[in-house]
Amino acid sequence: MCGIVGYVGKEEAAEFLLEGLRRLEYRGYDSSGMATISPGSELSVVKTAGRIDELARRLDATPLSGNCGIGHTRWATHGPPNDVNAHPHVSHDGSVAVVHNGVIENYRQLKEHLESTGVEFRSATDTEVIVQLLAHAMERQGMFNGRAAAWQNSKDAEEPLLAVVAEVLAQLRGTYGLVVLFRDWPDLVMAARLGSPLVVGVDDQQHFLASDASPLVGHTDRIVYLRDHEVAVVRADDLRVVHRDEGHVRHRVQTLDLELDDVGLGGYEHYMLKEIFEQPETVRNAMRGRWSMDEATAVLGGLNLTPQQMRSVDRIVLTACGTSWHAALVGEYLLEELARIPVEVEYASELRYRNPPLDNNTLLFAITQSGETADTLAALREMKRKGHPTLAICNVVGSSIAQEADGGVYLHAGPEIGVASTKAFTSQCVVLAMLALYFGRLRHLSFGAGQRIIESLLQLPEQVEQALQCHAHVKQIAEKYAECRNFLYLGRQYNFPTALEGALKLKEISYIHAEGYPAAEMKHGPIALVDEHTPSVFLIPQGQVYDKVMANLEEIKARGGPVIAIVGEGDTRVASLADDVITVPRVDDFLQPVVTVLPLQLLAYHIAVLRGCDVDKPRNLAKSVTVE
Ligand code: G6P
Repeated sequence: MCGIVGYVGKEEAAEFLLEGLRRLEYRGYDSSGMATISPGSELSVVKTAGRIDELARRLDATPLSGNCGIGHTRWATHGPPNDVNAHPHVSHDGSVAVVHNGVIENYRQLKEHLESTGVEFRSATDTEVIVQLLAHAMERQGMFNGRAAAWQNSKDAEEPLLAVVAEVLAQLRGTYGLVVLFRDWPDLVMAARLGSPLVVGVDDQQHFLASDASPLVGHTDRIVYLRDHEVAVVRADDLRVVHRDEGHVRHRVQTLDLELDDVGLGGYEHYMLKEIFEQPETVRNAMRGRWSMDEATAVLGGLNLTPQQMRSVDRIVLTACGTSWHAALVGEYLLEELARIPVEVEYASELRYRNPPLDNNTLLFAITQSGETADTLAALREMKRKGHPTLAICNVVGSSIAQEADGGVYLHAGPEIGVASTKAFTSQCVVLAMLALYFGRLRHLSFGAGQRIIESLLQLPEQVEQALQCHAHVKQIAEKYAECRNFLYLGRQYNFPTALEGALKLKEISYIHAEGYPAAEMKHGPIALVDEHTPSVFLIPQGQVYDKVMANLEEIKARGGPVIAIVGEGDTRVASLADDVITVPRVDDFLQPVVTVLPLQLLAYHIAVLRGCDVDKPRNLAKSVTVE
């Protein structure tokens, strides 16, 4: 939610900043801006409501020069998306500019205090207090007195500046990833992080900053993930990191494993479509190198718990938000069926404030694509505070949740840029199936049963590929139903979470009202919605509940509702009842969500395109929700 970029080097900063903002636009896209500085001049700022294209137009009219700069793309929290509330924010005296992700919870008190000292605020944002506090503190320290000789060299000014930054950060309650640009020290920026990610790209004679790694790709593969409570002093040729409690720390430079292809459109019209078609590969990557055929189990080295500790788990809590929460529901079926462990699935936003009685041997899994979702992070922290082992199923390497969890499993699905999650969901289901196998093999599952599960999983990438062949057919079906105003999605058992996910996909990107339900539950309310204009999407692949779902389908048909059915290969019964039939390969019940969700993703995609919606950047949404 919101994207940050920064640059210090020998090149014109604006070039990297603009390109970086384009790559981060998926994180928030209601307004944007940038600021640069050249030695001896004032801070130059260009910012605007609207998309990055609008910022680019403004920059064409008013180019920014300077080798040091910061930029931001916003998802509004405090104050509407307009030119004034867009970042960067500049202090009343023009000495400091800040870009910020996160939320400052005590901004009202801080603002009132500053206003009482005569500071005039321009924006309605919480961020502006940071920049005004910084300028205020610097003024108190006498740092601007005629740009005093003692401070002219930024090396001399570094320690006092760090002290000022630390003093201001200590006053903030909430979360931040922020980068500060100073008028009087044009050869450095300072970056600070608490609960909102920031990375530094390291290169010879230049450094890059960003709120995730994607803007760095193609510029450098050396990356430093800042930790909470760290402040980085970034110059073209130097990077120093100071931790609030540990003082100066040695930063760890890691290798960034991303290519330009990973962050580009790769010939597709939208990231969402690209990511849908990446699924044969992402499903394969989730499993790669994670099998022990000798033991007929999954090898998940990052869990950081001994088999004995795993064996003593009495209960598992899965917590997540959005699409990841739907994957958690699939996980509940998987872990209960294959591992026989009681599982609870909790919305992270509810869990964080609830106080459920949990036994000692309860293990938490936070499931998250981004690793940054504020509620999921808070729920993980709360469970950790209570002493439960906390693990993560996460996609983004080095993200906050990946750092804070005791261990976990990465999805290795590559960057997911379309706001509506697709490939992360299928990878999450696969990883949860592997976990269920792993736990099952520690308990009651026989060697032979383990082998059969592995065989089924190994066939999945090919089956996903086959399932995606429904693309052209789904597009035709989308044309038929694109004007409908309500949809129902119905499925049972493993396909109940898939129904929820199908409905969410449609809502998110096409703005059509859709509800997912366990197919039998629709008799208790939603069936009242059924008429000839309300299609029901039925998930009815062969399996243990096939006949039951068939009965539910007949109930809908009896009331004149159109039915789109997702069926397994070789099905002969559904076609005589349903209006439209989409066929996917037959897979075991426990893997069905991975194939049945694919036509639902495509259906939502094509309906959204037909309705002229901005598929990758749907209104009001953001990819990574770093606020409560
Ligand atoms: C946002 C995104 C969803 C995503 C949810 C959870 O709402 O728009 O696509 O499912 O956050 O995100 P996470 O990164 O924790 O999986």
